[in-house]
Amino acid sequence: MTSTDNSTGSAQQPAAEPARAAKDPWDLPDVSGLVVGVLGGTGDQGRGLAYRLARAGQKVIIGSRAAERARSAAGELGLGVEGADNAECARRSDIVIVAVPWDGHAKTLEALREELSGKLVVDCVNPLGFDKKGAYALKPEEGSAAEQAAALLPDSRVTAAFHHLSAVLLQDEAIEEIDTDVMVLGEARADTDIVQALAARIPGMRGVFAGRLRNAHQVESLVANLISVNRRYKAHAGLRVTDV
Ligand SMILES: NC(=O)c1ccc[n+]([C@@H]2O[C@H](COP(=O)([O-])OP(=O)(O)OC[C@H]3O[C@@H](n4cnc5c(N)ncnc54)[C@H](OP(=O)(O)O)[C@@H]3O)[C@@H](O)[C@H]2O)c1
Repeated sequence: MTSTDNSTGSAQQPAAEPARAAKDPWDLPDVSGLVVGVLGGTGDQGRGLAYRLARAGQKVIIGSRAAERARSAAGELGLGVEGADNAECARRSDIVIVAVPWDGHAKTLEALREELSGKLVVDCVNPLGFDKKGAYALKPEEGSAAEQAAALLPDSRVTAAFHHLSAVLLQDEAIEEIDTDVMVLGEARADTDIVQALAARIPGMRGVFAGRLRNAHQVESLVANLISVNRRYKAHAGLRVTDV
């Protein structure tokens, strides 16, 4: 047995207190009626996610610092996607994906604290630096982008997911399935279940619970490795978690 094996062996239960059946981890809620907003949805990642979710039948609102840019991007996507400024996007959505660059992350979220209050926030931001050796992981003061989001948004339900996707594949209309798992992190099971279910709306994709936000740093950082893979193999690499 390895140190990553979480089984506790055959602990004896008192006869009077039968163990409760564990919840099936793949028993996920129906999220098809939830509105998904994408902050920074005019960019490659946000636009790609908006496209895939809308194509799967989800109601999507693209957000931007400029409403007109969002409306224009939404018009290009079709599929009932709407555009709005980031504040209106946050206000009108049940789930809000944060897809802005790391540079603008803190400032964007600070300004939307009220609009994001009570919302399920999904952070997909990878704090990365680039130099002549390639991509490398930055070390945010709070631990990770997701933990920075949680610190800035105390009244929101912050989760982290969708870090390892290729925006190129997401936006390629000829591709039917996105062959990857999505690592989902968060503090509340009800919230990570919703995000897993959202990922599963996209054909080929599966959401896998991957721990609490304190473990978001390595998930965000892994993108630096995937960028190295992509450069060497001229690929758009995804990720699969095996044996689950
Ligand atoms: N690209 C990928 O393959 C990929 C994959 C996984 C995760 N991610 C993560 O997703 C995020 C977005 O990536 P991207 O490639 O889509 O980035 P991007 O195109 O550079 O930026 C996305 C959008 O964010 C807005 N924006 C730009 N600078 C901003 C700032 N300083 N403050 C607030 N908003 C700003 C812009 O929209 P407006 O000007 O319309 O406001 C822009 O269209 C990043 O944090 C990245 O780590 C990207």
